[in-house]
Amino acid sequence: MTIILILFSIADIKQPQRVVHMYVCLCQGVTDGHIRDAIYEGCCSYGEVRTATGVGTQCGKCACVAKQVVRETLSDLQSAQASLAYPAAYASA
Ligand code: FES
Repeated sequence: MTIILILFSIADIKQPQRVVHMYVCLCQGVTDGHIRDAIYEGCCSYGEVRTATGVGTQCGKCACVAKQVVRETLSDLQSAQASLAYPAAYASA
């Protein structure tokens, strides 16, 4: 058992987990990570993300995918906050 754990640890060190980002906007070089970061830093809508990152400001072909990433990220944030709020309030009461 110990040997297996050591092998997994060595494998983790040799191949650190990589985060792969997808280019959403080729005109401006904006990835889905850039869009998510903009939302984590305070943007609350596609318009705000557009202003912050420049996504969709040139040819506009990326707007549909960019809006989808914004919607998914905002939805993930809302569900994460909802799941944290109840247990924290419940635990302190
Ligand atoms: S691909 Fe985003 S503006 Fe052209």
